[in-house]
Amino acid sequence: RNFLQILGRTTLVTVLVSAGGFYYITQRDRTPGPQMPFDADKKTLVVLGSGWGATSLLSTLDTTDYNVVVISPKNFFLFTPLLPSVAVGTLNPRSIIQPTRYITRHKTRQVSVIEAEATDVDPINKTVTFMDNSEIKGNVSATTISYDYLVYGVGAEVQTFNIPGVKEHACFMKELADAERMQREFMDCVETAAFPGQDAKEVDRLLHMIVVGGGPTGIELSGELHDFLEDDLKSWYPELAGRIRITLVEALPSVLPMFSKQLIDYTESTFKESKIDIMTKTMVKEVKENAVVLQMPDKSIVEVPCGLVVWAAGNKGRKLTQDLMAKLPNDQKNRRGIEVDDFMRMKGASGIFAIGDCTATSYAPTAQVASQQGAYLARILHQMAKTDELEHRLAQLEALGRGVSSGTEEEQKKLKDETEDIASRLQKVKLRPFHYSHQGSLAYIGSDKAIADLPFMNGNFASGGVTTYLFWRSAYLSTLFSLRNRTLVATDWLKVKIFGRDVSRE
Ligand code: FAD
Ligand code: NAI
Repeated sequence: RNFLQILGRTTLVTVLVSAGGFYYITQRDRTPGPQMPFDADKKTLVVLGSGWGATSLLSTLDTTDYNVVVISPKNFFLFTPLLPSVAVGTLNPRSIIQPTRYITRHKTRQVSVIEAEATDVDPINKTVTFMDNSEIKGNVSATTISYDYLVYGVGAEVQTFNIPGVKEHACFMKELADAERMQREFMDCVETAAFPGQDAKEVDRLLHMIVVGGGPTGIELSGELHDFLEDDLKSWYPELAGRIRITLVEALPSVLPMFSKQLIDYTESTFKESKIDIMTKTMVKEVKENAVVLQMPDKSIVEVPCGLVVWAAGNKGRKLTQDLMAKLPNDQKNRRGIEVDDFMRMKGASGIFAIGDCTATSYAPTAQVASQQGAYLARILHQMAKTDELEHRLAQLEALGRGVSSGTEEEQKKLKDETEDIASRLQKVKLRPFHYSHQGSLAYIGSDKAIADLPFMNGNFASGGVTTYLFWRSAYLSTLFSLRNRTLVATDWLKVKIFGRDVSRE
């Protein structure tokens, strides 16, 4: 009885302390204190974008070093790895976004956040032009500002290869709005198939979902669609669920080329069990309103009727990036994106740093790379600010030195000592090049299974299955930028476990 009493009290105290801690942290985060104002003596650092690279930079940056201005058409950060979960209603869209101001308002010096799209970067005059592209506009909706340093992190856009009909008829899986649109259109297909009198052929067309691209986005989305079908649609649409088909089309001989062979095989066999058809060596040539046109492995052309096409066929550079590169034709020739040196400096430009998917480096265009580059750049910018301060002080001392030739011996010695000290500190300043540390590749493949290629003792550890899925969940939960997002995502997972996904169409 004594033991039970002690256990009960300990549990109660633990729960109360955790709840108190949780309440304290959330309230502290909700009420940021006053910030230092902009300082006319500091340099202006303009950050373009609020994605993985830019957000990681802002989280690490010491804002006392600069006057920081962030410009992005989205006033939030989107946690892309969980986007396919939003497309099938496992997660609420708001659970995986974080307003940029929630980060910048906690910085020591104020940061100006502007919701606008950069339309031009002038690397010669060091200016950025941007405009308000939102529905509501004020008197001013376009302007130009100058920068001393520019961090260019605008990411990439969907690659359509100019294939006819893709823009008009396919859903993408890149932005939050894409996932919301896909969810609406998917449920529209199902409800339309349930319309009385629909003939069998039309029902089969409406219930055929085609995912284009066997990269991680296409695979994860197909897995999520399968879960939605098994866990929920079978209960609410028993007469239709058995007729829903998911087909994944991939131009290359295999899906997931970045994963090890054994995990590719595991994914293919899991998809087979889940009745997701994989068509490899098959290329989409056109997307029509009610069908896709495929070039089969034997080069024959086949038209496949379908209700929904999701386009996950990779990315390309934005127009803004292409325009910027065109202004530096001698140094920027890579068609994949901006060429940078080992310190993320854009080649041929002064004061521009580029990070993430807009760059052409030896690394894959992933969130892992972009966020490490952002954090690295924040440290480099801090080092540069400190170097600037030392150089400024050295110039002051040298000017003073010229003026105090008539000063006392002691004054002259003090001046000389400080000058020498700063000169030697400046000599020691050495910027370290960016070094990427690969933490492994993870992907969800549906049916409560995930795959993981993890670096292990100079080799690779490949694992797939339910345990890896639990690891996948905990890895992404801990990677989310805030306690708020972690709580929202965990609550959504619990809600879906208890009540299932919502099949209403907004
Ligand atoms: P982004 O994160 O795309 O950010 C670009 C920012 O620039 C955005 O805020 C955008 O609004 C802004 N912007 C756009 N145009 C302008 C403009 N004209 N002016 C100013 N700002 C502009 N990677 C992984 O490592 N692991 C994963 O599990 C993973 N899952 C993914 C799942 C999906 C569905 C997708 C689509 C991608 C996934 N990725 C994953 C890849 C990862 O999201 C990208 O590599 C990463 O977002 C790149 O970061 P970034 O900062 O370069 O660009
Ligand atoms: P991707 O570029 O990795 O894959 C696109 C696939 O589409 C390619 O395999 C390509 O062969 C195929 N394709 C292109 N055109 C086609 C056509 N006309 N017909 C049929 N197939 C066609 O793109 P994805 O999956 O969007 O990933 C983009 C980046 O984001 C990658 O670097 C990826 O590693 C990263 N990412 C990582 C994730 C993870 O680690 N879990 C999840 C999602 C994305």
